[in-house]
Amino acid sequence: MTEEERVTSVKEAAGRRAADLVETGTIVGLGTGSTVWFTLVRLAERIKTEGLEIVGVPTSMDTTTKATELGIPVVGLGEVEKIHLTIDGADEIDGEYQMIKGGGGALLREKVIASISEKEVIVVGPDKVVEKLGTTFLLPVEVTTFALPTVSRALEAFGCETVLRLSDPGVAMTTDNGNQILDCRFPNGIDDARELERAIAAIPGAVESGLFIDLAHAVVIGHEDGSAELRER
Ligand code: 5RP
Repeated sequence: MTEEERVTSVKEAAGRRAADLVETGTIVGLGTGSTVWFTLVRLAERIKTEGLEIVGVPTSMDTTTKATELGIPVVGLGEVEKIHLTIDGADEIDGEYQMIKGGGGALLREKVIASISEKEVIVVGPDKVVEKLGTTFLLPVEVTTFALPTVSRALEAFGCETVLRLSDPGVAMTTDNGNQILDCRFPNGIDDARELERAIAAIPGAVESGLFIDLAHAVVIGHEDGSAELRER
């Protein structure tokens, strides 16, 4: 098995297993990323084969497109007050179920959806489970364009180096919300994620950080043999 095949089978195992947690008649938050892709595929299968009835609330334009193409009914936030279950990916998750998200750039919508979800299930491979956040992945911060220089300086005062995320060489990536992303490298990881999330939220022009604190309730960890393990907080 090549490394690419191994990563794909881990994602598929986690994504599909989480989709089997979805009950008929529920409102389901649809996360973003390559692991959630397999959740979407499995949900579409269940809609066709079992008559599963759900309404999806996507966390990105990309997921809206994919879910719609697969035949999963989707609505916007204006049509729901709460979400029963959200399934989303993560870039890092620690032993307390705190996370870094935003590798796909959808952190703002993902956090809004997580905040109104009764249950948030995270789908990952074992490599995303870390002892300390910020050690294997940069922390994304979504920033309004005007404030990029001031937010960058304010973030660097916390001891990180910031890098503007690009979509193409020389072209800043634009999020679904029309903002940019600064990726923050903390040389020794993040010591106090809860406090850092609060501190970033207080910076004018910083729209949202990829620190997800107390938002995940369970994690499904996929393995390369096709099995997946569900851990509840
Ligand atoms: C997007 C995210 C994704 O959930 C995260 O990057 C994981 O993606 P993948 O499943 O492709 O590894 O936070 O903003």
